[in-house]
Amino acid sequence: MQRVLTGIKPSGIPHLGNYYGAIRPALALAERADVQGLYFIADYHALTSVHDRAELDRLIRGIAAAWLALGLDPARVLFYRQSAVPETFELAWILACFTSKGALNRAHAYKARVEEAVRKQLDPDALVDMGLFNYPVLMAADILLFDCDRVPVGSDQLQQIEIARDIVGRVNHLYGDGVLHPPEGLCEDTALLPGLDGRKMSKSYGNAIPLFAPPKEVRKLVGRIVTDSSPPEAPKDPEASLIFHIYRLLAPPAETAALRARYEAGIGWGDAKAQLADLLERTFAAPRARYEELMAHPERIDALLADGAARARALAAPVLARVRRAIGIDR
Ligand code: TRP
Repeated sequence: MQRVLTGIKPSGIPHLGNYYGAIRPALALAERADVQGLYFIADYHALTSVHDRAELDRLIRGIAAAWLALGLDPARVLFYRQSAVPETFELAWILACFTSKGALNRAHAYKARVEEAVRKQLDPDALVDMGLFNYPVLMAADILLFDCDRVPVGSDQLQQIEIARDIVGRVNHLYGDGVLHPPEGLCEDTALLPGLDGRKMSKSYGNAIPLFAPPKEVRKLVGRIVTDSSPPEAPKDPEASLIFHIYRLLAPPAETAALRARYEAGIGWGDAKAQLADLLERTFAAPRARYEELMAHPERIDALLADGAARARALAAPVLARVRRAIGIDR
């Protein structure tokens, strides 16, 4: 049985690109019989960027509801809020005592903030607080607290896993192998889901399709995809069509083959767009209803997360006890 852990930063309602690139693969992993999955909302990580109480609260419940609605089964995996596992923060302090400042100086997110400040002719650290600077240490604590084997992450997060592994090396060198368990980053480069303009789908590009938007809005967004001016009856190359490309990434193979045949026979662009909008509606109508139901009953979300936290703490306690003993804080 391998332990796989995924941290979910609460940052708005997920869009189709998040679903395809991160959520769907993570849900598939949770289905595997040889995997014990730990899925948590990284709410204290979000505090490094969200400083509005109501907004943070809304983001946390929203992301929890989204994952549950999309099929995360809290009976199969441990689903919890980071803040409900206080062992994390004790371990984070311990780990900080074995983290070289140089490693954190080289962290991409921190460096980007320093560069931004320099560009704006500010003091290099003007835009940096210690939450951002220590972000990788807290992330290492999330992982190491559970002796995780694998951590699926985007390529932008691999550096953080390396930092965690360096910390493990340092602690184990001083106190003995086996005090901490080295995790492996799992970076599967899923093909990117293009957005409405063909670039990578991203909230910041304004080209995203939100997962739980009303069908009418989805149809309007799909309508914005740029096409050429060929007439409806002209045969069309599905490979050159953004509409087809998105469709294929989400549809079962038989439906993709059917749409391909229609392209080759000649399909109007309005029709092709309607096919994609229909597919999105078929795929996300039920999750959207579940999402709305959960958001109307936040106490259900809270109860599920509290149960997950209790189970997570039971796993964490012996690991933290082992570390405390190793370093000389406990006998
Ligand atoms: N840093 C991750 C992100 O920005 C979230 C995260 C926090 C995480 N702790 C983690 C991911 C531990 C993997 C493991 O999305």
